[in-house]
Amino acid sequence: MAKTKKARRLDELAAQIKVCTRCPLWESRNEAVPGDGKYTSEVMIIAEAPGKEEDESGKPFVGSAGRFLNHVLEGTGLDRTDFFITNTVKCRPPKNRTPKKLEVDTCTSNYLFEQIELVNPRLVMLLGTVAAKTVLGVKSVNEARGRVIERDGRKFLVGYHPAVRFYREDLGEKVKEDFALLKREIKRLAK
Ligand code: URA
Repeated sequence: MAKTKKARRLDELAAQIKVCTRCPLWESRNEAVPGDGKYTSEVMIIAEAPGKEEDESGKPFVGSAGRFLNHVLEGTGLDRTDFFITNTVKCRPPKNRTPKKLEVDTCTSNYLFEQIELVNPRLVMLLGTVAAKTVLGVKSVNEARGRVIERDGRKFLVGYHPAVRFYREDLGEKVKEDFALLKREIKRLAK
């Protein structure tokens, strides 16, 4: 079947991301990571930036954080192929440092914000402080998690980044709570 105009534009953005040199992160990356999943999904997941294994493969959430994400999703019965998953910044920052303002601003103004408009999800889950700050302007995950935030005709949820579990094991349970809320909100979309 012929691709829609939106799908063709999403492909075009992915191709541009792959060869992007608009901010300094391109110099140290192996593969840029445009995102993965269903272009027509009602649900979009946005995290921080690719890590080592994502940088090697060009796919989001294939490393240890991704394995924990899959485990959490298994517990909810949700499947990651049902979502469109991407990151605030599409190239791995050296040693996984937090992306800098210039990197975030460049990447979101050229790619992320248009990806959101094109996928046009009804529900967006923001994982971690960088995504939550960038998309909603909130100061921290704690300020916003556990509730639905309505903005620009969409619903947003903020949750801990799955990688927090690797340095604070107790937060693994919070990640599970965040995805339980995601599941509840997905069910509400169907009503
Ligand atoms: N962490 C992220 O924020 N994104 C990925 O794709 C992998 C790890």
